[in-house]
Amino acid sequence: MLFRSRPGEPRPRPRRRPRTGTTGRRGPVRPARLLAVAVALGCAGGLLSPATAAPAAPVAAAREGSDRVRSLVARMTLDEKLSFVHWTAGAEGGPLARGVGYLPGVPRLGVPPLEVSDGPTGIRLNGVRATALPTPTALAATLDDGLAREYGRVLGHEGRALGQDVVLAPMVNIIRVPHGGRNFETFSEDPLVTSRTAAAEIEGIQSQGLMAAVKHLAGNNQETDRFTVDAAIDEQTLHEVELPAFRSAVDAGAAAVMCSYNSLNGAHSCGNESLLQSVLRDQWDFRGWVLSDWLATHATTDLTKGLDQELGLEMGKPTDPVPDSRHLGAALKAAIADGTVPESALDRAVIRIVGRMERFGLLAATAPARPARDAAAGRATARRIAENGAVLLRNTTTAGRPALPLTATAGTGLAVIGDSALRPKVSGLGSAHVVPDAAQAPLDALRERAGTGVTVTHEPGIDRLGGPLPAENLSPVFTGGKQLDAGGDRQFYEGTLTVPADGDYRIGMQVDGGMAVLQVGDRSPVYAADSFSDTTSVLMRLTRGTHRVTMSGWAWPDRPLKVDLAWVTPQRAAADFDRAVAAAAAADTAVVFAQDEGSEGYDRPSLSLPDGQDRLIAAVAKANPNTVVVLNTGSSVLMPWLDDTAAVLQMWYPGQEGAQATAALLYGDANPGGKLTQTFPAAEDAHPMAGHPERFPGVNGEQEYNEGVHTGHRWYEQQGVRPLFAFGHGLSYTSFGYRDLAVERTATGAAVRVTVRNTGDRTGKEAVQVYLGPGTRADVPQPVRKLAGYTKVTLAPGQEKRVTVPVDARQLQYWDRDRDTWQQAAGARTLQVGSSSADIRLTGRLEP
Ligand code: BGC
Repeated sequence: MLFRSRPGEPRPRPRRRPRTGTTGRRGPVRPARLLAVAVALGCAGGLLSPATAAPAAPVAAAREGSDRVRSLVARMTLDEKLSFVHWTAGAEGGPLARGVGYLPGVPRLGVPPLEVSDGPTGIRLNGVRATALPTPTALAATLDDGLAREYGRVLGHEGRALGQDVVLAPMVNIIRVPHGGRNFETFSEDPLVTSRTAAAEIEGIQSQGLMAAVKHLAGNNQETDRFTVDAAIDEQTLHEVELPAFRSAVDAGAAAVMCSYNSLNGAHSCGNESLLQSVLRDQWDFRGWVLSDWLATHATTDLTKGLDQELGLEMGKPTDPVPDSRHLGAALKAAIADGTVPESALDRAVIRIVGRMERFGLLAATAPARPARDAAAGRATARRIAENGAVLLRNTTTAGRPALPLTATAGTGLAVIGDSALRPKVSGLGSAHVVPDAAQAPLDALRERAGTGVTVTHEPGIDRLGGPLPAENLSPVFTGGKQLDAGGDRQFYEGTLTVPADGDYRIGMQVDGGMAVLQVGDRSPVYAADSFSDTTSVLMRLTRGTHRVTMSGWAWPDRPLKVDLAWVTPQRAAADFDRAVAAAAAADTAVVFAQDEGSEGYDRPSLSLPDGQDRLIAAVAKANPNTVVVLNTGSSVLMPWLDDTAAVLQMWYPGQEGAQATAALLYGDANPGGKLTQTFPAAEDAHPMAGHPERFPGVNGEQEYNEGVHTGHRWYEQQGVRPLFAFGHGLSYTSFGYRDLAVERTATGAAVRVTVRNTGDRTGKEAVQVYLGPGTRADVPQPVRKLAGYTKVTLAPGQEKRVTVPVDARQLQYWDRDRDTWQQAAGARTLQVGSSSADIRLTGRLEP
């Protein structure tokens, strides 16, 4: 059994901590250095110290890999074999990893080097621009496997073109905690949506010859204490909720699986034999390799428990020129020498890795040619997914006229409010951040689309960067646009900041060419790294007088680091706010852009929009009833102002083409068809985690998944709690009618047929959703209602189609924890078809 709780200690809450896999001028030391900075600032959370190595049983490498691969590995020296099981940042004098890691291969045996990069929303390479795709939450909201395949193809093609062989994507952990910092990086609270989207994306990635590493197995559903927390998940919940997407990724042929930082039922994931051997290999027949999350290893013996490779570089002494791997480098060599780890475990891991290389054609005499980058194709896909993943949450009609789409009437005045109207919110923060080729400001896209007859004004309302911090307020003077030489990490400024009066000051920083950390007194540090974040700022309460300031950072090898400091004084903030409300009052329509900051490394402290944006939206909506809110958030947010608005469009973090997509949707050139794949709670105390600290953030280092199989929308249904917006919700500029439901059992499960008609006057897309009630076994927990199938259909005005939604046999089963297997749920089941989980149009029965 996997279920076992582990006593633990409360850990400090990790603060925002950008992390990187980067390279240095002289060598591959950047990730460790960034970690060093984070550790020095007390921000790295509690990385576990190595567990005591236990003697390991011999590992049989029999039957893994082809004869050719086995014979290649047999001809490798011990050091050559060791070079496969930990990523480095580059061979001395050889190519440097621009992404997350580099493996040298064995050229003398025709085994080429490998490079790996993040990540889920585009190829992230330090200092290299790439297509920034919309966030995976946006992709999932399309409920369209074809688009997921297309998204994957862009990642695959671009990764290959940019010199990569493996991409650390997709992330398929369930959105369990509404506050989850990485929710934007994953797909849904629903296992079926996550499974289908993951499989299609992986097919797309791998169709281009790039290997996909699905992550993070398993239970990595929160950022709080992510390095140490133990996820206690019962077997049924594990198999029915968290694991299905991993299983689906394995079935889709994922080359690699990344194990997570957290522990699962008492054993850390990367040394968890039940998970990595019994489930992944024995039950699912996984043939690829398992790599750890960044330094998520705990012992050399992890290699005997199902782990094959370590990702990450261990920081040695600050003076060490090149960091080592933590457990699977020199430490593993010693463990093999003293017999703690059998060499056969190493052989098995290398066979698995080289085996995938063989399968991807990388051992062929002529390796697959790398394509040229196709930025235009990337752009087109980014645009298509931003448009299709947008969710129209609300659209009121006044005097017979809907608020959206906007009509381009000459003379109409549009007040565009919000910082992200000018500084586009493209990606979330952390390892999934992608530096886009280019990203237009939504304001400019709206101006272009509105045309010359329309007056378009802009006010930030809340400026998230502000104006340049006056040179004379810093002593010694720090001039904006400071150029630093490339080189090692170091403190490059120490001085004092003079503040004229007590108040809340926003201190901001923009960097290009590297990473910097700004520390004012003992306030939260301001981090900025061009590969991990856009502009960054922190609102801090400062008293009149002087405050100690330090700045440190480093540059990418190829260019100097440029740092610009900015601030917003309390007086300026108040004036910005008032001007925005006045501009809204004077316009015919106000379009407010709001954003949040989903990030790896920390969970959102609340579900409210940050930085006082709720107050701004409320004031604007009071000033102008024609207020349209555009949300650039990675996950659900509360909307206390909702009733006062005319429309709300959820754009997520829409990628580099977000501005154009937003303008097209607002003006009706594109018709929204996205659906929520996560429930939006109505209040901070009305979601599955509320009032349950043992669920989130956990108690004494352990989080209990005691909501069981009732995750996400299933919980709202079970508890009778009304959400703000239900799972599956999403409006369109047209409308759809449903009739003639027919349900029948098939050899592969069930087929649900329904006729859908476009009853409006625009072409639109509808995601037809099928929900299933429980079977008759009362002693097995079953969701009150689960999503069992969905199909997307495009209909012209007046057109109708007979749509078939297949329901897979697995959806009719439950996980039997006594027998460790799937069982058919007995009895007839209620079956509902609808446009959302809260908009059921037809109800039928699935007979036994
Ligand atoms: C993240 C992974 C990421 C890795 C490499 C880790 O901190 O959890 O998702 O792929 O870093 O950047």
